[in-house]
Amino acid sequence: MNVIAVDDKQEMSEKASAILFNEIKQNPELVLGVATGGTPTDTYDKLVEKVLAASLDLSKITTVNLDEYVGLAREHEESYWYYIYTHLYEPLGLSPDRALVPYGLSDDLQEECIRYEKSIEKVGGIDLQLLGVGRNGHIGFNEPGTPFESKTHLVELTDSTRQANARFFEHKEEVPTRAITVGISTIMKSRSILLLASGEEKAEPVNALLRGDVGEKWPVTVLNQHPSVTLVVTKDALEIEEDLDHDQ
Ligand code: GLP
Repeated sequence: MNVIAVDDKQEMSEKASAILFNEIKQNPELVLGVATGGTPTDTYDKLVEKVLAASLDLSKITTVNLDEYVGLAREHEESYWYYIYTHLYEPLGLSPDRALVPYGLSDDLQEECIRYEKSIEKVGGIDLQLLGVGRNGHIGFNEPGTPFESKTHLVELTDSTRQANARFFEHKEEVPTRAITVGISTIMKSRSILLLASGEEKAEPVNALLRGDVGEKWPVTVLNQHPSVTLVVTKDALEIEEDLDHDQ
């Protein structure tokens, strides 16, 4: 694993956006797996700045969202479709024709999971997967205990994940209880992975990963079995606090 330690989130976002920019420059038809959440927002902003400044054409890339809430319409401000549209496609003036996102309002969610997995295969798989990590070590919405061989599937979100994401909603009760996520085996098939972690609340999963552990208790540790991972991590996400709450 290539570990890049940086001082703060701004530097993390600068490094990550530069990596993404170069990858797209080298392969204008890149299939880019995209994460959501608070971690990569500035990375997308900086990528957009670089792309516009260089007049790079992104119309041939495909983006593959990692996950989507069940029950939110695409136009809902907290849907992950809306997230990637507003952080990438809209500021670039691109139509989201090549944005793959699980459909969280499907009448048949199991069928939707199968369809989504096939749609990733159809575009040739993911070239570069951008990932964040949850406080409990989840990647996408693959919560602790998810089998490593999992494909795209439906998940019940843990209480700690709903609590962590409550900051994006007015009330915690509004955080959906279920989501569709790309599976761990799907993530592991990506040709390369760019993992971002920022903030002391990520120190436990980051340290589990860097110890070289591999286990379902911390889903992110599966990345120790991937041949091409770059971790861009802030210093505070590397330091374990003595009194950290181990249930989070
Ligand atoms: C979210 C997303 C993940 C994300 C993770 C960390 O709920 N489903 O894709 O990587 O949890 O989120 P954040 O970056 O807000 O800490």
